[in-house]
Amino acid sequence: MGMFIVLEGIDGAGKSTQARLLAQWFEKRGYEVVLTKEPTDTPFGKLIRKLVLIGGKEGIIDGARISHEAEALLFAADRAEHVHKLIKPSLEQGKVVISDRYFYSSLAYQWARGLDLEWLVDLNRFAVRPDLVILLDLPVRESMNRINGRKIKTEFDKIAELQRRVRENYLKLAKRFEEIKIINALASLEDIHNDIVALVQHEILGEY
Ligand SMILES: Nc1ncnc2c1ncn2[C@@H]1O[C@H](COP(=O)(O)OP(=O)(O)O)[C@@H](O)[C@H]1O
Ligand SMILES: [Mg+2]
Repeated sequence: MGMFIVLEGIDGAGKSTQARLLAQWFEKRGYEVVLTKEPTDTPFGKLIRKLVLIGGKEGIIDGARISHEAEALLFAADRAEHVHKLIKPSLEQGKVVISDRYFYSSLAYQWARGLDLEWLVDLNRFAVRPDLVILLDLPVRESMNRINGRKIKTEFDKIAELQRRVRENYLKLAKRFEEIKIINALASLEDIHNDIVALVQHEILGEY
């Protein structure tokens, strides 16, 4: 069996950046790596982008124009395809799978939208548990500075409020799921990368 590592955190926390660096680190050591993300690039992921994420202000602040439950079900459907078509087969082939977001994102965001956490946990029970989940944690103000320009700048406060709730939810989830390890994402790219590598070596490879 391979290794399954997930990066989580609010928008702008550095997930995509660190996922890439970690993939390169494994590749240099001779591992076969599958770098992936959620929502995926499959038709399900595209549907999510269309219905949920490209909702303009409404999409970001108040959720999809579709119901919150339908939103959660779409994310779960996308994940089911991801798990069955890519993640499980890759792990069975002994590869290192690194995913930029996974079901913890659904829990943190959909819970922040007001859905029942236990329903969300049940809905995602099919999703294989990762060996390690790296939660990149940083204050919302800093994450919003980083992505300034990438997203709409109006309604800044409302977006920040949602992000704050999501950040709090992630920290609560870290108490419930023992595979989640928190990393301070305020540091430099290199320092964060080194912290992540140390975690991987300690938690999964058993090297130190
Ligand atoms: N440690 C860091 N310090 C400063 N800027 C960073 C750091 N990590 C990432 N960034 C920058 O912040 C932005 C968001 O990073 P990204 O990896 O895309 O975050 P995410 O995928 O979590 O939304 C990018 O422009 C990236 O270059
Ligand atoms: Mg990203």
